Order: sequence, then structure tokens, then C-alpha cells
Amino acid sequence: MAIVYLNGDFQPLEEARVSVLDRGFLFGDGIYEVIPVYGGRLFRLSRHLARLRNSLNGVRIDNPLTDTQWEAMLTALAARNGGGDQTVYMKVTRGTDSKRDHAFPSRIVPTVFAMSSPLPAQRDPGSEPGVGAITLADIRWKLCNIKAITLLPNVLLRQQAIDAGSVEAILINDGYAIEGAASNLFIVKNGLIITPPLSNALLPGITRDLILELAAANAMPYGEADVPEADLHDADEIWLTSSTREISPVVRLNDRPVNDGRPGPVWKKMIGLYQDYTAAVRRGEKD
Ligand code: PDD
Repeated sequence: MAIVYLNGDFQPLEEARVSVLDRGFLFGDGIYEVIPVYGGRLFRLSRHLARLRNSLNGVRIDNPLTDTQWEAMLTALAARNGGGDQTVYMKVTRGTDSKRDHAFPSRIVPTVFAMSSPLPAQRDPGSEPGVGAITLADIRWKLCNIKAITLLPNVLLRQQAIDAGSVEAILINDGYAIEGAASNLFIVKNGLIITPPLSNALLPGITRDLILELAAANAMPYGEADVPEADLHDADEIWLTSSTREISPVVRLNDRPVNDGRPGPVWKKMIGLYQDYTAAVRRGEKD
């Protein structure tokens, strides 16, 4: 039975209840994190907790738990859900009010919730077919560096991609490719790995960080640079990265093949390095 955490208690998923006056429900007033768990170990936890703190600061919610408390709670949650590989989702909303009012209530206790979901199976680099993506205008707000639970634009964009027979939307802002609806973007051109630089326009992905670290450590040329839409269409390879999907090779963009329509050699090398890293996390050798 799935066990979740809500406001200090572990309980069965079916029993967890939040008030209809919770500001997460009323306004989408809250933030979240998604952390993969490999072999019962939380992947890059300190980085996820740092991003959680930044998101909380960005929306003026006090962090309800210390890092030590977050770690203890999330480790216990993963163990209670069977250890092994899984994904932990955690969120903090501003809390439950006594009425509906946009302004912050003067006294309010944040709501803290966490649950576990299955982690999608790891890709087999030898047989990976790749995924399709479409470009769409970025209709989100101007603080995309905050991992806010207010995800209606992302939901609509992802669904539009799915309705078009693709799995993800690549968002275009002022003529530049920014990121996916729920993923970061990389392109490869002439062997050079490029990802847009961090800014308020995109989420600072933890997977993105690791890919840049692995490129640096393995002498793979890379850079952080703006990606004009034309460069996206002209790329040798396109990747979308996230905690749950790791590194997805995009082989069709707007129904045209990317290069020869198969995952490229730079992706094959990077996914190998990435999977070596997650295997080391499972053995407790890396975080
Ligand atoms: N989303 N950009 C956006 C808009 C995202 O929502 C995500 C992740 C990422 C990748 O970040 P990371 O590598 O830290 O997972 C980039 C999660 C998985 C989600 O919303 O479920």
C-alpha cells in the first residue's frame, strides 16, 4: 500500500486529506520538488533541497523543515514505499486559510506533502527509439526558475504535444528555444553540447547540472549558450532532460526527423556516463 507524508504523519495514500481552503487548492500557491531515488538513495539531495529553498524564498514561504528533517522524512518515505528505484514528489503550499483571499493570511502554517511514484524503467541505449517533440510558444510566467505548483501552462503545452503525437513541447520565447514543458533542453552541433544558460526563463534542472558535470569530467565539449529556434531545427541531436526521464533523445521535431531520425552518438556516450553515475548512486558511492 502506498504510504504518503502529510504534515508530520505517514499514512496510507487513500487516507490523506487536505482542506478545500488550502491555498495550494485555491490559488496553486505553493512549490514542489521531484527527486529520483536509486536503490533507496535520494539522488543529489542537497541540490534538490537548495532549489527547494530558492523556490520557497521566491514565493515568500518559510521553509517548514530543516535540511536534516527533510532528509529523514524523505529517506523514511522511500523506505516505507519499498526502497529500490522510485520517484519522490514533495510539495509545500502556503497552508490552509479560513477564507478565500489573494493576500497572504497573517498567521498560517505551510502544508507539507510527499509521496512516492514508480521511476520509469532505465533506457537501453542499444534499443532506444527516441521521442518526438513539437515547438510551441512559451506561454508561462516570468519566474520559471521557481518550481511552482501552478502548472496550468505546462499542462496545456504538454497535452498539446501529446495530441500532436509527440511526448514533449519545446518552448520558444522571443525566437529562442528555452526548455521543455517539464524538462531542460540540450542540442548537439558538430560535437558541441549546448544548453541555454540559467535565467528566470527556465528551471535550473538537477539533471542538467549533472550532464554538464559529466561533459566536463569526460572532455566532451560543451557550452551554455542561447539556442535560436533556427539552431534547434538545424541541430545534429536534441535531448530533453529531467529527474524522471533522465535524458530523452528527440528524434522527430515537428514531424521532421532530427538528423537521421535515430538517437545520436553523443547521446549514446552521455546516457552511458549517466547510467554509470546512477549505478554508483545505487552502490552508495555517489550522491
Ligand atoms: N520537472 N524544466 C521544467 C519546466 C521542469 O518541470 C523540469 C522537471 C525540468 C528538469 O528538472 P530536473 O532535472 O531537476 O528534474 C526542467 C519535474 C520532473 C516534474 O514536474 O515532474
